[in-house]
This record gives sequence, structure tokens and C-alpha cells, in this order.
Amino acid sequence: MGKNILVTGGAGFIGSNYIYYMQRKHPDYRLVCIDALTYAGNLHTLDNAANGNFRFVLGDITDRDLVFNLCKEEKFDLIVNFAAESHVDRSIENPEIFLKTNILGTQVLLDACNKFDISRYHQVSTDEVYGDLPLDRPDLFFTENTPIHTSSPYSASKASADLLVMAYHRTFGTPVTISRCSNNYGPYQFPEKLIPLMISKALADEPLPVYGEGLNVRDWLYVDDHCKAIDMITQNGKIGEVYNVGGHNEKTNIEVVRTILKAIGKDESLITHVKDRPGHDRRYAIDPTKIKTELDWEPETKFNDGIALTIEWYLNNTEWWQKILSGEYREYRNFGG
Ligand code: NAD
Ligand code: TYD
Repeated sequence: MGKNILVTGGAGFIGSNYIYYMQRKHPDYRLVCIDALTYAGNLHTLDNAANGNFRFVLGDITDRDLVFNLCKEEKFDLIVNFAAESHVDRSIENPEIFLKTNILGTQVLLDACNKFDISRYHQVSTDEVYGDLPLDRPDLFFTENTPIHTSSPYSASKASADLLVMAYHRTFGTPVTISRCSNNYGPYQFPEKLIPLMISKALADEPLPVYGEGLNVRDWLYVDDHCKAIDMITQNGKIGEVYNVGGHNEKTNIEVVRTILKAIGKDESLITHVKDRPGHDRRYAIDPTKIKTELDWEPETKFNDGIALTIEWYLNNTEWWQKILSGEYREYRNFGG
């Protein structure tokens, strides 16, 4: 029999891609998704996931009774925690919910692991816990030993959760792993993040808001490569270890925006430079040596291919993101079977 996995936050961007990846890769696994369907969760995203090995549960990971009852009932082999508030700009406007979901929610899941003897817990974290790197030092990269040094309430909440995960491992022996990934892109990403936002604006001939000069650098990873890394870590990664996930795909924001405009056939005059984000991290860049050496993970999708696939997906799925822009997606509550 295949594993029984609790996927938290599976109606969001990476969690849903993980569900589809795992359904393709391990059709015998049972996947139970718990998601609170915040503004970032969208049940339409999971329309194609419904099958006998899939269950959706509407619920908040900070709801201890609900999480414990679910774990008691389902007897999970593994929890993969994607559920989070994930947008830096929103964390600047309203940090509190970030602390609640990202830190206290993680604690509830860790407690559930201990109480119900769940044999593995995986925390999906971010390279943003390392802070940023200077633009004039392209020789520097984040390794797993780079000190935690956060910039935004979002990254501070993710770093706090990571510390809690490692503390549970040391104190209670909870069997944990952590992945810290660079910026993802691909299908089903909410159109508030750079790439889907710029694609949707370009298609609508609206101004593309680039923060500051657009010279900040992000290390882009196609979402399926991240899902593959998580699958490999939960199977063969060492308990108690952190793995950085990224693929030497560094681009300035302005390069990304120009690539999108060119691919869609729109004019660069749509680019509008707007006020910079407060505390804006300059550069993220991952050194993936550990995951390559220990687990033989490597990204399969080059940026040029991945961005073309992503643009094509947004062109072919206008209904998905237009329902988000109109707010219609929030009324959809069909949990299937
Ligand atoms: P997302 O915002 O698209 O999705 C988050 C999902 O979590 C949504 O479906 C939302 O409804 C759900 N959720 C939020 N609060 C919840 C709660 N209290 N209980 C249950 N569900 C809740 O985020 P994403 O981009 O898919 O990111 C997933 C994870 O990966 C996050 O932990 C994020 O920190 C991490 N990460 C993201 C990136 C990236 O580039 N997007 C990079 C590295 C790491
Ligand atoms: P984002 O997708 O929010 O991810 P993160 O801040 O977690 O890296 O932003 C990616 C980069 O794009 C970041 O440097 C901020 C910039 N950005 C813009 O210039 N304009 C925008 O409208 C957004 C959302 C982001």
C-alpha cells in the first residue's frame, strides 16, 4: 500500500502542483489536503485532483482539535506543510496573520506528529530566511550554514517556524526535514506574485509595476523541480537536516518583465517604475550542492523553457486567473465526493 500524506495548503500554488506531481509519480499514494481557503487558496485549482485516493478538508492548521482529529482518523505516514501566508507585501501591511499561520500553525502540526507518532514531517521553507546578498558579489550564495538574517515579517515568520521545527527535533526527537527553496514560478500561481501579475497585466495592456529600478535579483525555479526535490527529501533526506533548493537561474526583475513582454508581443512602454518595497531584499541565490551531492537532485527545467510553459499556461487558462481577479473564485466551495 502507498503512503498516506497530509498536504497542508494544497489549494495554493506550490501545494497544488505538489498534489498533481505526486498523483503522477505515485498514483498509489493517498493524499489528504487540508486548506483554510484564504484569499490565496482556490478550489478550482484542485478540480483535476479528485479521485479515490484524494480527499479535501476545509480547515485551518491552527485549529488543534481539527488537525488532531484528522490525524487520529487518517493515520498519516507523512505531513508536508505548505500552508502559509506567503506574500511579502501583505506581511508589511498586516504581519499578525503571518505569525499565527506560519508559526503557530507549524507548532500544531509538530504536536500532531508527536502525539500520533507520524513517521515524517517536512517543512516547506524559503531561502528568504537567509536575508539577502549584495548585488556586487555574484560569488556569494546561500548555503545551509548561512546564518538566519530575516528582512520582512514574512521571512521572520518562516525563520521562526524553521527554528521551532529544529527545536522539536532536538527536544522531542520529531522526525523532521526542512527545504529552503528559491522563488518558484509555474501554473496556478496567484496573480499577486511577480510573474503571474506581470503576465496578467501585459495581457490586459495595463501598466506593469516594477519596484524601484527593477535590479533586484531572484533565483527562479520551475515549480515541478521544487516538488521533485520535496519528494526526494521526504524519501531519502536525512532526518534533522535542512536542504537548500534552487538552480542557478538568477535574473533581475526587469529582465523577467522584459522576457514576458517579448513573449506576449507587448511593448516595453507598459513598464512603470513604482515606489520600492520597504526593506526590499536585493539578491537571493542558492547553492544547491548539498541536495545535488546527497540526493542527486537537479532542476530539469531551464528558465527559458519554464517561462514559455508558464506563459502558455496562463494564456490557455484565462478563466482560472480571471475568476481570481473578479473575486468569483471565493464563492466556489465544491469539495467533491
Ligand atoms: P500560496 O499563498 O499560493 O498558498 C498558500 C496556501 O495555504 C493557500 O491555499 C491558503 O489557503 C493556505 N493557507 C493559508 N493559511 C492557512 C491556514 N491557517 N490553514 C490552512 N491553510 C492555509 O503559497 P505558495 O506560494 O504555494 O507557498 C507554499 C509554501 O512554500 C509556503 O510555505 C511558502 O513560504 C513556501 N515557499 C514559497 C515560494 C514561492 O516562490 N512561492 C518559495 C519558497 C518557499
Ligand atoms: P514576489 O513575487 O513578491 O516574491 P518575493 O518578494 O518573495 O521574492 O516578488 C519578486 C520580485 O519582484 C521582488 O524583488 C519584488 C518584485 N516585484 C515588483 O517589482 N513588482 C511587483 O508588483 C511585485 C509583486 C514584485
